[in-house]
Amino acid sequence: MSSSNSETKSAGQIANVMNETRVFPPSGEFSAKAVIGSMQAYQTLYAESIADPVAFWERQAHEHLHWFEPFHTGLEWNEPFAKWFVGGKTNVSYNCLDAHVVAGRGDRVAFHWEGEPGDKRTITYAELLADVSKFASALKKLGIQKGDRVSIYMPMVPELPVAMLACARIGAIHSVIFGGFSAEAIADRNDDAQAKLIITADGGWRRGKVLPLKQTVDEALQKSPSIQHCIVLKRTENDVTMKPGRDLWWHELVADAPTHFPAEPLDSEDSLFILYTSGSTGRPKGIRHTTAGYNLYAKRTFQWVFDYREEDIFWCTADCGWITGHSYIVYGPLAAGATQVLYEGAPNAPAEDRFWDIIERYRVTILYTAPTAIRTFIKWGDHHVEKHDLSSLRLLGSVGEGINPEAWMWYYEKIGGGRCPIVDTWWQTETGGIMMSPLPGAIPCKPGSCTMPMPGIIPRIVHADLSDVGTNEGGMLCIEKPWPGMLRGIWGNDDRYRDGYYGKVPHMYLTGDNARRDEDGYYWIMGRIDDVINVSGHRLSTIEIESALVSHPSVAEAAAVGRPDELKGQGIAVFVTLKNHNPSDNMRDELKKHVRKEIGALAVPDEVRFTTALPKTRSGKIMRRLLRDIAAGKESGQDTSTLEDFSVLARLRSDEES
Ligand code: WTA
Repeated sequence: MSSSNSETKSAGQIANVMNETRVFPPSGEFSAKAVIGSMQAYQTLYAESIADPVAFWERQAHEHLHWFEPFHTGLEWNEPFAKWFVGGKTNVSYNCLDAHVVAGRGDRVAFHWEGEPGDKRTITYAELLADVSKFASALKKLGIQKGDRVSIYMPMVPELPVAMLACARIGAIHSVIFGGFSAEAIADRNDDAQAKLIITADGGWRRGKVLPLKQTVDEALQKSPSIQHCIVLKRTENDVTMKPGRDLWWHELVADAPTHFPAEPLDSEDSLFILYTSGSTGRPKGIRHTTAGYNLYAKRTFQWVFDYREEDIFWCTADCGWITGHSYIVYGPLAAGATQVLYEGAPNAPAEDRFWDIIERYRVTILYTAPTAIRTFIKWGDHHVEKHDLSSLRLLGSVGEGINPEAWMWYYEKIGGGRCPIVDTWWQTETGGIMMSPLPGAIPCKPGSCTMPMPGIIPRIVHADLSDVGTNEGGMLCIEKPWPGMLRGIWGNDDRYRDGYYGKVPHMYLTGDNARRDEDGYYWIMGRIDDVINVSGHRLSTIEIESALVSHPSVAEAAAVGRPDELKGQGIAVFVTLKNHNPSDNMRDELKKHVRKEIGALAVPDEVRFTTALPKTRSGKIMRRLLRDIAAGKESGQDTSTLEDFSVLARLRSDEES
């Protein structure tokens, strides 16, 4: 596609104003041991994968999954509906557990778990298999059938992955609801999925306090007519009310359950889980993933991106309630037979060095966390890090938002000691697994870039008029062909799936993000399409303005949004959190000057507001759409069910621009 109308093209184009030139190649030592150890090796693999993606994935599926019955067709594509590995029968919990035990690796540690109060458990693959078998048999006994939906609302204890895997073992579809969500949000999700069962705990530990999970579930169940039973795990021993006939204790259910309970052979396309994610408007959508394709994609991307080796100790700090926890705590690492750290609580309990303490004690080699956490650590100060020996680390990862180059540098130097590559992984709940990321032994890192696509993934960037962008021009990021990990739809709403992901750009998956590709073929995510700021016809991406602000030594975090401006169409408003929370008199002007120097006059904010915290989703993403309303002086009518801390919003509204 090419545009003959250059005027439309320049008007629709997103300006690239970021000028990051630092490049960090992996050390020779790192590359020498890596699974994929050179750019050439990556390019060969990639070229092979896109020459015939279906044949490529068929081969991967044969080699990396256990099949009770082989599949006969690699892909059936009836746009926008994909079926991978058709006719095959497998089981995700078999691939994650039995496969290792059968291979004589049952004594390998699956999880080093640590509760927030400091209690510890070490669980081998054989033990995990026994726990999952018991719970799967208990679910079956309770009448849970293949295809039934099961909500899970639990703290980060080993029983959370056990519950997920037990569902997978019998073909029940789990819907994990993050333990910070309200009763209202739980009821909505129970209702949308028509869940029959909910699994919870008496409580979970968070910053020294007990989160009363069961109590919240009780409230939700008043509005969840589809739920027949509630299983309750004893974790915190606080008082809970058990409703006779409906509520059952986990420990009683598994007391006499058999430790051998065979995994049911399931169809490749049987649903594995639903995971609700907030759309920019309207009700949360239940993203649906299925069995074989998802499991394969999570496993292989885990092995490629994290360069996983036998001796590694992997720690992903996400909660299992997010896609990151599904794919890179449960289904990817376990399918690969990895040893992991699992931690229940907050990063500042009991003190702000808890993460570094954990890394030191377990000799963690690979850390996977989010930019919001990294920016928080920067704010808390380097002294917390410097107290600990982090020399076991060899690789770092980032996910969830763009990482500002200055935060990247801090992560690289302070946490990685200048020796660990950083895999900045771009992907979505919908994509099932990582879509773009450095392969750490092969692709040199550039701070702020997710670098290059995974094998089999073909990104394409187009203007609003659907013409292809040129080098360094921003546009809508799409994916050309189906891949095994892709969502299979939105639960109960095929139209919303088709319109949202395959409606606007013909024959391609629309990611909803903007991106550009630089002269070296590196991809740079520029933020959500809806967040673009249009100043006098120049379309600016939020991340670039924010990264310029974060590169100022006093700034901890920043969010940039557009606000109505009669002259320019949109002006720029920025919300800034300072490291010391104490703006000097001329800080506003200083920041404006700083942006002018870093980017240019075009991007200078019209309004700078200081705030002690930014509104974020519970998974830690900055909620720019709420800030947009505040900057425009409007009350927000938007869905705030995923907002982490309502008080932040109230504070922002009342903060004067003085
Ligand atoms: C954003 C999280 C820049 C992006 C796995 C995407 C990122 C959305 C990155 C999906 C990254 C995630 N760089 N942006 N490395 N990772 N995003 O569904 O806007 O919670 O579309 O999945 O987060 O968020 P989700």
